Amino acid sequence: MRVFQSLALVASFASLLVNAQDACKAQDRTFSTEQTPAGKYQPSSIFMNPTSGLTSSKFYISVVNLTPHRIKLENTHSYQMDTFDFGDIPQGRSRQNTVKYRNRIATQDDAGEAYYRIDGTDKKFALRLQGTGPTVDQRSVTLDLSGMNLGQRVYKFPGGESSVSLVITGSAKYGFYASIRHDRGGWMRWIYNTIRDRPIRHLFLPGTHDSGMSKITNKITSIGNSFNTQNQGINIYDQLRAGSRWFDLRIGSVHDNNNAGRNLGFHTLHVNDETADLCIGNSGESLDEVISEINLFTRENPGEVMFFSLRYLIGRYEFPDRGPIYWNTQLWNDFLSKIRGVNNRCPDLDTSVPFQNQPASYFMDRNDGKGCVIFLLNGQNLRDVPKEAVGDGLYALNRIGLKDHWSNMQNVDAMAPNQIDNFKNLKRGGNGDFNQFHIAQWLVSPDAIASTTYGLQAFAIQQANPALYWAGVSGMSPEPWPNVMMVDYIGVQQKDQTGWHTLSAEMYWLGIGMNLYVISENCDVNKWKSPLIKARELELAGGKEWNGIIFANGTVVDQPSPELHPGHTSILRNGTIFANGTMLETTIPNPWI
Ligand SMILES: *[C@@H]1O[C@H](CO)[C@@H](O)[C@H](O)[C@H]1NC(C)=O
Ligand SMILES: *[C@@H]1O[C@H](CO)[C@@H](O)[C@H](O)[C@H]1NC(C)=O
Ligand SMILES: *[C@@H]1O[C@H](CO)[C@@H](O)[C@H](O)[C@H]1NC(C)=O
Repeated sequence: MRVFQSLALVASFASLLVNAQDACKAQDRTFSTEQTPAGKYQPSSIFMNPTSGLTSSKFYISVVNLTPHRIKLENTHSYQMDTFDFGDIPQGRSRQNTVKYRNRIATQDDAGEAYYRIDGTDKKFALRLQGTGPTVDQRSVTLDLSGMNLGQRVYKFPGGESSVSLVITGSAKYGFYASIRHDRGGWMRWIYNTIRDRPIRHLFLPGTHDSGMSKITNKITSIGNSFNTQNQGINIYDQLRAGSRWFDLRIGSVHDNNNAGRNLGFHTLHVNDETADLCIGNSGESLDEVISEINLFTRENPGEVMFFSLRYLIGRYEFPDRGPIYWNTQLWNDFLSKIRGVNNRCPDLDTSVPFQNQPASYFMDRNDGKGCVIFLLNGQNLRDVPKEAVGDGLYALNRIGLKDHWSNMQNVDAMAPNQIDNFKNLKRGGNGDFNQFHIAQWLVSPDAIASTTYGLQAFAIQQANPALYWAGVSGMSPEPWPNVMMVDYIGVQQKDQTGWHTLSAEMYWLGIGMNLYVISENCDVNKWKSPLIKARELELAGGKEWNGIIFANGTVVDQPSPELHPGHTSILRNGTIFANGTMLETTIPNPWI
């Protein structure tokens, strides 16, 4: 007995020694406090003026560095550009680089390239700009990460004076990853070793706003249309694949105009006020669709945790002019029996511990490792029926200590600072932040006229989402960050381009990079050495090697010829300007590739 005890003592002493060496240390922090130049929001004048918007000659490329290495600008050259402002991106920071074409009517010659190196490594990448004509859709950028074996991506800009973004994470020891495309859907399981011991309040999760409104289905007869009522471009299954783990689902039953007792079905809705006598809005995905999309995702990607925050939970007539129909026992039971069709629900969780204080593994390991689909009910309209069904995995929303901040502002230059102000004083780590599960709603709320005129999609893809990758990122550090970054039109980069390969993957990689890099550098959150500064653990080995090209039209070439670099200028013309300001006085072959 004694021998065993002392052996056990020796073993635990040994593990203490290993732990000390493997521990997170403040002096190992690489996150930089260096400021990059302030960025610029897309001005309303550009956004709302079709002519200047369409023919704008100024664009931005934001590069987000979620690695422990500085990203160094090695050189640039540009031809017929008024501005070609690129620079280093310190660790954990982002930089909004600026390009302004000299000629409104661009010629084939208008071009420029910026050459970067991941400092201290042999990894290089290039950003290539090209213009072929006068309108915004004739100006493109190639993110060429073929030198890092991470492929190439050609983007058109989403609008004048708007940006294209590139997120890079990983490290020399861990391997690098970039937002050229999405990877496997189950990103939480992928970085399980990094996040398993962190309480939910120490995670960063992408989220979607009005998640069910990926289409307009006219189950209620009202004036809501795709411009003013649709908030997403891809369905719940694709939102999950694009990284989202927090969903804002507003569910209502739709009732026969002539027979309140006849429920025609449960649908996601987006209305101005679900309890008003006359409400305006429209319906999106049906609850049946949502459920089968969740089940498809969890079947393909077991072991994640995802939260569905449910609101409305009320009935409306098809023509929603006679007030709400509060759910009775029959409707509640019908709703419950639908929800029971969701696989991997997590009934009977310990409700004595607020969910934000449970480690990620508490949820991810459930259902024999298949993970958790958690429903959180906002029960304000549940008057005569229960407000939760713990035995079925439906919990009252206050089982998690939420702070949900919605700016309710139309202008991105007001919304972004307001969101940042609201999360920048959080001090993450230890036990001091027990009650704070913080949702940042990184979205603008245009009034009815503006949204009907320009479309919620345009506000999201030209203004709010691009600003996340410079303004939003600059507001976060290893101490403050929100737990959910909620957006409209997750993944959509070009208007109405919602095919999987036309989506952009910045949000997916922001989510991974925040958890893997930024949060790991907070020793009050993460007791261990950052996964990026120790050698990669084998089970974390990344996705398949891929060094292909995705063109702006969504065409994917998996194995391009090694010489193919869209936008590459093989000749540097007389008049080309380099990063040091020197102008070339003769035409030469481009020495860089
Ligand atoms: C998409 O773009 C690529 C590259 O410009 C081109 O080769 C291809 O034909 C285009 N495909 C379609 C369907 O337009
Ligand atoms: C400026 O940069 C170019 C291209 O890298 C180089 O050839 C040239 O010598 C540099 N000029 C000066 C003055 O440093
Ligand atoms: C380069 O351009 C300048 C200015 O247009 C011109 O004076 C010069 O002759 C050109 N040099 C060559 C080699 O073409």
